[in-house]
Amino acid sequence: IQRTFSIIKPDATRRNLTGKINAKFEEAGLRVVAQKRIHLSKAQAGEFYKVHAERPFYDELCEFMASAPIVAQVLEGEDAIAKNREVMGATNPADADAGTIRAEFAESVGENSVHGSDAPETAAEEIAYFFSGLELVG
Ligand code: GTP
Ligand code: MG
Repeated sequence: IQRTFSIIKPDATRRNLTGKINAKFEEAGLRVVAQKRIHLSKAQAGEFYKVHAERPFYDELCEFMASAPIVAQVLEGEDAIAKNREVMGATNPADADAGTIRAEFAESVGENSVHGSDAPETAAEEIAYFFSGLELVG
């Protein structure tokens, strides 16, 4: 059993898609073991995505992530990191497989509805950044 960190991004909360996206996770065998709705400041968004600080889209990405509330989540399941990325689909919705969250809901490569950790180390870091141990209810 593995845990991963997920964000339902501002484009999706704005369109009231939290339930539909959670249904995709649950259908794939992932369990939401922690969840909270928060509104990041641009500085907090920048801290979270600091690995992308040198990329040309960084400023736009931080503005977007601070533009409306997000839903921060911890998902648990067998192979949760890989499974979550499979359910999310490719970064650019134009390349995402049919049935994936990004194929169904994402608006563009930037406003792509969800974030998911890409490795065990980043999952652990991202979970600890947003949640205390007390908030993780398996
Ligand atoms: P995350 O789960 O959000 O980390 O997505 P990812 O791992 O599929 O993609 P990556 O880590 O490469 O990029 C992080 C985020 O930056 C993406 O999810 C997009 O929101 C944004 N992003 C990536 N490429 C572009 C781009 O070309 N333009 C814009 N505006 N945003 C981008
Ligand atoms: Mg990434």
